[in-house]
Amino acid sequence: MLIFDRRLSRHPSFARWSRRFPAAYAVTAGESLKDIGVFPKHVKAISRLAGPMASRRLTIVVAGGGSVGDFGGFVASVFKRGVRLVQVPTTWLAAIDSAHGGKNGLNVGGAKNQIGTIYPAAEIHVVRAFLETQGPERAREAAGEILKINLLKKIPSAKGDLWRSLPRVIAGKMSIVRRDPLEKSGVRHLLNFGHTMGHVFEAALSLPHGSAVGYGLVFAVAYSRAKGLCAAKDYEKIIADPLWSLFIPSRDYLDCLGLPPARVKGLLLKDKKRTAGDKLRFIFLKKPGQPVIREVGVDEILRELKRQKDLLRSVYG
Ligand SMILES: NC(=O)c1ccc[n+]([C@@H]2O[C@H](COP(=O)([O-])OP(=O)(O)OC[C@H]3O[C@@H](n4cnc5c(N)ncnc54)[C@H](O)[C@@H]3O)[C@@H](O)[C@H]2O)c1
Ligand SMILES: [Zn+2]
Repeated sequence: MLIFDRRLSRHPSFARWSRRFPAAYAVTAGESLKDIGVFPKHVKAISRLAGPMASRRLTIVVAGGGSVGDFGGFVASVFKRGVRLVQVPTTWLAAIDSAHGGKNGLNVGGAKNQIGTIYPAAEIHVVRAFLETQGPERAREAAGEILKINLLKKIPSAKGDLWRSLPRVIAGKMSIVRRDPLEKSGVRHLLNFGHTMGHVFEAALSLPHGSAVGYGLVFAVAYSRAKGLCAAKDYEKIIADPLWSLFIPSRDYLDCLGLPPARVKGLLLKDKKRTAGDKLRFIFLKKPGQPVIREVGVDEILRELKRQKDLLRSVYG
């Protein structure tokens, strides 16, 4: 059975391919698809389509961006107690990040990914013809997650040719996932690099996830330098990365830094990686390939936000 983003059927090559499935279920992409409230309605429809098919013969193939992948991945993990799953990511973000590693999630009352499983796909097919129907803004969104993996794994970034950079970025993510597939040992936590502040910027300024992560990375790297964890020569190397220039200098980053401290504090305290009291596990970077995790207080993060804001204002006026 195919579960797919209905938007894709506009494209003849996708429409032709989708007709080969004995059953297909079209969904509308976006966060509302992941809402737990509409889940029963979807499961009933999927159940009707699957009919009497035995679970051991059923494979669910999910084609779409991250929202469809998260929804379909969750369906496959619980439908008839779990059926075979194949992912066909069709956004750059899904192709680089969300289709790999097995995480899925549904939203509860607007809070993201509160319900979910870790259920890796048996196969993941990244199809160039399906990806190339995306507009350029989607590529910029993906750049944040690419920069994250490249900095974590010391992979040189290539600006522009996303298709060619895919294999190395995917392998980079999977090398981290494989060390901690069920997110038990803490290694997988490294994939949250740039996300502590990224999630704050995303929520407060309604930025696309990948762009917010890009600004979160800029924040984390500048913070690493300020704390003396990252040496000047390594910092120079990082900021010479061609993807870096997509995020800074920019008006958006100044808006991120200019958020009211009370708002930032409120959002930081909701962070899943919060430890005791007002402390968070923050991911710093010593140099490309060498992340370090340190516990920091929320007030220290707020001071760093102000420091960067004052510095950037003095540079850009
Ligand atoms: N499971 C994970 O590990 C993981 C990781 C990162 C993000 N996510 C989730 O992924 C989601 C965001 O991913 P996304 O941006 O891919 O979301 P999305 O599925 O909402 O897709 C974004 C937009 O692109 C459109 N689209 C999809 N494929 C297209 C194509 N080939 N051509 C043109 N348009 C196309 C969609 O219709 C939608 O409008 C969020 O829900 C996030 O929580 C999950
Ligand atoms: Zn992310």
